[in-house]
Amino acid sequence: MRDQTVLASAVASQVEEHARWGGVVPEIASRRHVEALPQLIEQVCHESGVALAELDGIAATAAPGLVGALLVASVTGRTLARLHAKPFVAVHHLEGHLCSVQLGEPLPPGPYLVLLVSGGHTELLRVDGPGRYQRLGRSHDDAAGEAFDKVARLLGLGYPGGPAIEAAGRDGDPRRFALPKGRVSRPEGGYYPYDFSFSGLKTAMLRQVRALEAARDSVPDTAAEPLPLADLAASFEQVVAEVLVERSCRCAREQGLGTLVLVGGVAANRRLRALLEARCQRDGLAWRVAPLAYCTDNAAMIGVAAAQRLAGGQTSCLDLGVAARLPLEQADRLYEQQPCF
Ligand code: KG4
Ligand code: ZN
Repeated sequence: MRDQTVLASAVASQVEEHARWGGVVPEIASRRHVEALPQLIEQVCHESGVALAELDGIAATAAPGLVGALLVASVTGRTLARLHAKPFVAVHHLEGHLCSVQLGEPLPPGPYLVLLVSGGHTELLRVDGPGRYQRLGRSHDDAAGEAFDKVARLLGLGYPGGPAIEAAGRDGDPRRFALPKGRVSRPEGGYYPYDFSFSGLKTAMLRQVRALEAARDSVPDTAAEPLPLADLAASFEQVVAEVLVERSCRCAREQGLGTLVLVGGVAANRRLRALLEARCQRDGLAWRVAPLAYCTDNAAMIGVAAAQRLAGGQTSCLDLGVAARLPLEQADRLYEQQPCF
């Protein structure tokens, strides 16, 4: 495969608009995609100096995600592919995240373990090569990013929660509040060693905030005192980072996987990146972390995944639609002759 160099990358952020509602509003997201896409395509062609007619292929995310937003990109991609007689490559969103790490350094040959942490997913994946994935761990309730977003709302820090909590907790004491590292019980006894649960942590944060408010209100003349937001944010970040890194390292060691890879929106968190590095070093594991600029959703990572599929001779049918759900283990279905949806 040719070198992977990003010639141009543009992201049309809708964060400000969604922030007003405290989260992504699907209808608004689709409408903004329709408005932004033509101009974004023009912009990256201009910046890269590459015309559509010169491309090797055209890619779009097909699953999983918000169907309206996926449709806008997929219809645009398939239309351009037909017009310019180019192969169309549908991409699984999580495969895009997995490939984001290659925008920094090349990956060692598989197998390796990936910790994928985003707003919708928290997964530990064994990767043996493109399309060869096995899920070894997951969250049983909220995704890690979702927990950041909900706790940020609880603390009044705004949306998206991850960057807001990171900024608030920068100078905070990460050991001030003891918070639980949620475990998931097995019906037959014991715990799932590589799984996660963030709902108890969310409740613990709520209780902590209520207790601090009650203590403040019980003392006359302290009602206007602010909560210790920096310590609350830092303690939350710390426990999330610890639970993610501890279970990932354990999984890598026990499964005989020598490299741990961190990707997804939450991988932008500096506390998490630093802890992963330190623990991998201690445990004798190699590690790779997606470049900061390509942790949260972006088209460059989708391009890398598509280039890899294209190099392997895989393209998608122009009649392929989109799907809200599709397990990563079934990503190969996007390249079947008969469209799977
Ligand atoms: O991968 P992504 O951009 O979108 C999904 O596929 O979900 O991830 C977005 C998630 C949000 O929940 C956001 O709060 C979180 O990633 N996030 C962070 C940081 N930046 C984004 N979480 C922790 N620390 C950050 N610096
Ligand atoms: Zn994502």
